[in-house]
Amino acid sequence: MDPIKAFKDADEIAAAACNYVLQAARESIAEHGVFNIVLTGGSTPKKLYELLATQTGVEWSKWHFFMGDERFVPVDDERSNQKMAQDSILSKVSLGPDQIQPVPVDQPAADQAASTYEQQILEYFGISLSDPLPAFDLILLGMGSDGHTASLFPGKLSLKETQRLVTASEPGVLPPPVERITFTLPLINAGRRVLFMAAGADKAQAFKHVCQDLTKIPQEAATPAGMVRPAAGKLLWYVDQAIVS
Ligand code: 6PG
Repeated sequence: MDPIKAFKDADEIAAAACNYVLQAARESIAEHGVFNIVLTGGSTPKKLYELLATQTGVEWSKWHFFMGDERFVPVDDERSNQKMAQDSILSKVSLGPDQIQPVPVDQPAADQAASTYEQQILEYFGISLSDPLPAFDLILLGMGSDGHTASLFPGKLSLKETQRLVTASEPGVLPPPVERITFTLPLINAGRRVLFMAAGADKAQAFKHVCQDLTKIPQEAATPAGMVRPAAGKLLWYVDQAIVS
């Protein structure tokens, strides 16, 4: 099945993504009692979060929220992905504090925040680093105009990480120019479902590369986003007309 679905605009992507997330939540809760969702930063996801927050009949008590990448800035900083998620969904629905796992940006350095977050993820799943990788029920991702995803930027070391679940990442060429903490490719590729949301003509070139990348083996991909291939999970790209034209 083609993993790419094109919609009119970012609003339609958000509406379709909302249905997909709710369906994934129902399936996961029916299968194993909880729904682990990994959020991403970005403008299209924000629309999705706002929409999700208005839904009724959702078993919010079974949801557990993680962040797939974060800027190394205080939680109340406008550049924080967690702040965006907090403002758009997490503060709007009924959740206990143990259902939200933000990246611990209060650590002295980004690499310490990364290893502490990795430890929190391992503890959540009740496993250690030598065990098979944990599989999140749904990982949401965006893509930048340089083809980056999460905080995995082209040509940077974080992209080559094979041992860790979470790593620190240098700033890329796109703003904001701050250090990041990011899920690694192995952790993303262990996900049960990975949903990209990407919109805008400025990303058309990068998306062309991704389409070519998806026909190649991940090691030959030109873009970080094109290296995302869940090993046993489902990959979906929700994009708008502007990006495909
Ligand atoms: C971040 C993001 C990043 C984002 C893309 C797309 O923290 O910067 O997680 O990977 O998803 O840059 O962002 P937009 O949807 O805003 O273009």
